[in-house]
Amino acid sequence: MMLTVGVIGGGVIAREHLEAIQSLNDLHAVALAEIDSSKRDALSGEFGLNGYSDYKQMIQETTPDIVIITLPHHLHKEAALFSARQGCHLLLEKPMALNAEECEEIIKAAAEHNVQLLVGHIQHYFQENRMAKRVIQELELGDLVFINETRHLNYFTDDRPEWFLNPACSGGGIIMNIGAHCVDKIQWVVGEPFTKVTSNLSYSSPGIEGAGLLHLETESGIPVSISISGYNPVPKHVTEFVFTKGMMKVEIGKGVWVSKHGRYEQVYSSNQDHPFQDQLIELMNGITGKSPIENTGVYGKSIIQVIESIYQSDQEVKTLRLSHSLQGKEGLV
Ligand SMILES: NC(=O)c1ccc[n+]([C@@H]2O[C@H](COP(=O)([O-])OP(=O)(O)OC[C@H]3O[C@@H](n4cnc5c(N)ncnc54)[C@H](O)[C@@H]3O)[C@@H](O)[C@H]2O)c1
Repeated sequence: MMLTVGVIGGGVIAREHLEAIQSLNDLHAVALAEIDSSKRDALSGEFGLNGYSDYKQMIQETTPDIVIITLPHHLHKEAALFSARQGCHLLLEKPMALNAEECEEIIKAAAEHNVQLLVGHIQHYFQENRMAKRVIQELELGDLVFINETRHLNYFTDDRPEWFLNPACSGGGIIMNIGAHCVDKIQWVVGEPFTKVTSNLSYSSPGIEGAGLLHLETESGIPVSISISGYNPVPKHVTEFVFTKGMMKVEIGKGVWVSKHGRYEQVYSSNQDHPFQDQLIELMNGITGKSPIENTGVYGKSIIQVIESIYQSDQEVKTLRLSHSLQGKEGLV
């Protein structure tokens, strides 16, 4: 079955989605809505799309089966609600929306209009994370004791779009944007939601936080520390899992290492990832009824709830317990 796609927002990540669509036989990108005419013309020309400045007009005129929303965070809700009401299935980029209430409105609209909703938590589709999940599930290294994630990257680059640095549009800084990936990765790899949060954030850059030290705990009590910094650091992206019988190290884009005798040995070398294709295949399978969507709206909302708790813990200088809204293991298996 051929499904048509319209993309809303023609910025950095739109290209990844358009290239993934091009590589899949059952999808056909038909239109792009982008308010910046130079970006619109460039991407529409390259991918042979009908270009629109108004996404509502795009949806009404081209009636795509699927809409991919790659807009600034404050526009996710209104675009998702409009698209769902027009009967379009949704791939909504992470973070799902500015807060849990907005997520709830989107979940309701998708259910009411009987459309599939996939939130773009891309970590689920990286082979490194899939392998880490398998090692944990198969108890290859014994019981999981704790997890340490370090993510350093230059967040305040000259080419970062302005809206990312405006909290009214982004909902926050590095925690909202990059922290969402860290929270998603660990929740999903471990297969448990976070239920306890303590955080210390740095607001050395005006307006939004640029770094943070997070101490979280999963539902069964596994401690997780996440260090994130964006003030022009030495780039690093490493997750280490400490077990009773060894350790595992995951570096997205590089590989997976396992240690059983005090020394890491590489067990996977990154070379075969197609995360954006795999994400679209999950959405197509949901639409055609082949298999249910894992990255549901309820799962996307769970990430926003953790992010909200991280901000609250820092502001109130206290540890917060959160009761997650996942139904069973939704999004975690
Ligand atoms: N999955 C990932 O790994 C990943 C990576 C990067 C970004 N993202 C997410 O993707 C989304 C977009 O991020 P980005 O980096 O592409 O940002 P971006 O600023 O490069 O792209 C957003 C685009 O939306 C356009 N836009 C704004 N208002 C519009 C409107 N009303 N109608 C049509 N177009 C409009 C802007 O002109 C801009 O080109 C965010 O949610 C972000 O967090 C996800």
